[in-house]
Amino acid sequence: MTVLGLETSCDETSAAVVRDGMVLSSLVASQADLHARWGGVVPEVASRRHLERVLPVIDEALEAAGLRLGDLSGIAVTNRPGLAGALVVGVAAAKALAAAMDVALIGVNHLHGHLSAGAHAGGDLRPPYAALLVSGGHTELIYVTANTEYLCMGRTRDDAAGECLDKCARVMGLPYPGGPHVERLARAGRQGERPLPRAWLGDSLDFSFSGLKTAVLRRVEAGLEPARVPGLCAALQESVVDVLVRKSVRAATRAGVSHLVLGGGVTANRALVDAATQAGARAGVTVVAPPLDLCTDNAAMIALHGLKLLRAGLRDGLGLDVLASDPIPRMAHDWKPPSSASV
Ligand code: KG4
Ligand code: ZN
Repeated sequence: MTVLGLETSCDETSAAVVRDGMVLSSLVASQADLHARWGGVVPEVASRRHLERVLPVIDEALEAAGLRLGDLSGIAVTNRPGLAGALVVGVAAAKALAAAMDVALIGVNHLHGHLSAGAHAGGDLRPPYAALLVSGGHTELIYVTANTEYLCMGRTRDDAAGECLDKCARVMGLPYPGGPHVERLARAGRQGERPLPRAWLGDSLDFSFSGLKTAVLRRVEAGLEPARVPGLCAALQESVVDVLVRKSVRAATRAGVSHLVLGGGVTANRALVDAATQAGARAGVTVVAPPLDLCTDNAAMIALHGLKLLRAGLRDGLGLDVLASDPIPRMAHDWKPPSSASV
């Protein structure tokens, strides 16, 4: 089966072709430069650029895969969650092509796509598994049940981890998006910079990053010489990674699963992946993370997830709508892992 994936939920216009679980091509036209001067994504600007780029990007993805529209079995498109005006561009393109070519249309949840990228990296890992989804818009611990239902074990109560990194980077004078710059500068270590706080929230699997953001702002306001920026980046990354890793391994242990899947743009941070891999190994949990090009937003993850849905006989009609928000339901408080699993 050959699936074209489309992703336009935020500021990347992306198309990819996947055949039987193999990524044949993956094109990402990033808008980061366009939004950099505003320090964040401007929704109307994003929609307009998606409109200009979506068809050329589809053409390029098909050409790179050596295929034509007529070779497709289905078109998978992100229809939730995201910026409504941005989502609608990809969904309209997918509907028009699916109708014209008479192929299956499959709406994909962006978050499920991120997790499928991680599971793909784990050799098409099958659920149940625990997952950390960590990006600019989300920070969630998710239990994916044996029936591929998604249950939220914990999520951020304020900022997402990527949002915190981006905002802290901004106050330190670094370009948008800040996450990759924080990682690059953090490589030299903390260099005597004092550690920053971590919000543990008792034994909850929820997160909070707003206090950390304020702590960075206070240090900048108190006077931050340029020479101290790398050390502050290292302290910031240490705090974020420490909380993400400890809670993720705890979630996997509570869920009684052997695998933890990482997904989302912040997973591009190799300090996070290395720390999670080591902490997981100590707890008997195998950590799988996507390759770098499948961490940040891309259409290959949407095509990979769409292919799974198509194989399961799921498809959508031309009435497919977009949803700006589609939260993963919370796991019940009295939830217990299936009896065969060890806790
Ligand atoms: O998944 P993604 O591309 O878009 C959303 O769905 O939000 O994630 C983008 C986020 C941004 O906050 C960006 O700063 C962060 O991922 N990011 C990183 C790295 N690369 C991207 N954060 C830390 N280290 C990185 N290397
Ligand atoms: Zn994303």
